[in-house]
Amino acid sequence: MADNGHETGDGPSEPIEAVRALEDVPITLVVNGRSRRLRVQARTTLAQALRTSLSLTGTKVACNHGACSACTVWLDDLPVAACTILAVEVDARRITTIEGLAQADDLHPVQKAFIEHDAVQCGFCTPGLIMSCAGLLARNPHPGVEEIATAISGHFCRCGTYAHVMQAMLALAGRAEAQK
Ligand code: FES
Ligand code: FES
Repeated sequence: MADNGHETGDGPSEPIEAVRALEDVPITLVVNGRSRRLRVQARTTLAQALRTSLSLTGTKVACNHGACSACTVWLDDLPVAACTILAVEVDARRITTIEGLAQADDLHPVQKAFIEHDAVQCGFCTPGLIMSCAGLLARNPHPGVEEIATAISGHFCRCGTYAHVMQAMLALAGRAEAQK
């Protein structure tokens, strides 16, 4: 220990580590099929990077700690909570956001079904729900009630659209339980 009370030698230094955490790091994300280069801090979450650096504000942030699923995107082909992942952790990975689901003006079938079955109210939770539902259908085109319930179980919808989301998904799955 030096006279000034600071650690000396080659060991890790907390102030230096703290400064490094604020430095910009170059990364590349493949977002909605397009390679995007950006610079982020080591502490920047994937949700922040999408919204702030790439202006993809369809990904919503509510709790910001993995409890509500509002920020769901696909990492490769699996739904994940983008607020729980650091952008630097997914350097060079493939990300799909709600902006990447529609093909030009043709909405994704889940988007159409949500509209048809009135599964949208204020809409804040809707992008995340749609990403989870579309992810489920990509893995299993004919899910039943339990599989759909599991897929949407982490989503917190204050407007209570769950029954309508279920009907939209049952209709897409071609299930007899679906009501018109
Ligand atoms: S904002 Fe990411 S889980 Fe709630
Ligand atoms: S539609 Fe309003 S929070 Fe889900």
